[in-house]
Amino acid sequence: MGLSSPAQFQGTLTSKLKEQFDAGLLAGQALHADFTMAQPLARYTQADHEIWRALYDQQAAMLPGRACDTFLQGLETLGMARDHVPDFAELNERLMRATGWQVVAVPGLVPDEVFFDHLANRRFPASWWMRTPAQMDYLQEPDCFHDVFGHVPMLINPVFADYMQAYGRGGLKAQKLGALDMLARLYWYTVEFGLIRTHAGLRIYGAGIVSSKSESIYALDDARPNRLGFDLRRIMRTHYRIDTFQKTYFVIDSFDQLFDATRPDFTPLYAELRDQREFAAEAIEDGDRVLHQGTGQEPALS
Ligand SMILES: [Fe+2]
Repeated sequence: MGLSSPAQFQGTLTSKLKEQFDAGLLAGQALHADFTMAQPLARYTQADHEIWRALYDQQAAMLPGRACDTFLQGLETLGMARDHVPDFAELNERLMRATGWQVVAVPGLVPDEVFFDHLANRRFPASWWMRTPAQMDYLQEPDCFHDVFGHVPMLINPVFADYMQAYGRGGLKAQKLGALDMLARLYWYTVEFGLIRTHAGLRIYGAGIVSSKSESIYALDDARPNRLGFDLRRIMRTHYRIDTFQKTYFVIDSFDQLFDATRPDFTPLYAELRDQREFAAEAIEDGDRVLHQGTGQEPALS
């Protein structure tokens, strides 16, 4: 799992920064006003590189036939390192050439407005640090594997690259309108946990899924969660769970559909939805396009 959703974990942000300061990890390391830092390549340990390799091999072996072609092609086009934590500068050479995006290193989650501003300027903030062996398949904060392996391959796709930039711009606006809760749900149910319908069947594009072995299986094959057709209004009203696998996945038909649906100004939409009832993460509601109705059983984290 893992996430880098806005409006989340401000407490974690503080503690993660403090932990790194306390451990001396940021000593002599300039943290810029936009929370970026030089990727501290020399600080990666052999264990960090081994965890990266183990996760990469595990996901690369299972994702063909599960992840969408856009993700798999993006991974290949990037030429992402398999056996060590990638050097962001090397990734950026190909990424910049493809879509003008770049990865920037940050100590962990960053404040909402900083996060949105990076996206609006085609910069993806990636945690530089790696998870521990005990967190191989589940962690609540985004580490380097989640951020880089999970998110960056999709940024090679021009439509998705534009969607992410538009999301950043939308975030800055939503913040002023007091609508971050609604916009954060869109990020959650698309960028982090989105599924796409293809001629070959359901496929994953959400970074929170592709970076987790057990959720890669659960999201596609398990009977417990709902799988519903993408509906912007519905998503903006739907709560989500951060402590377990998802109760509901929303399925797009194409990235163009996603980009087109989210192109209009959300200002009137926020006003319209603000007073409407919100939905529980596991709910099925009238008007839902139900591809699969989940059994409602509580998923167990493995
Ligand atoms: Fe994420």
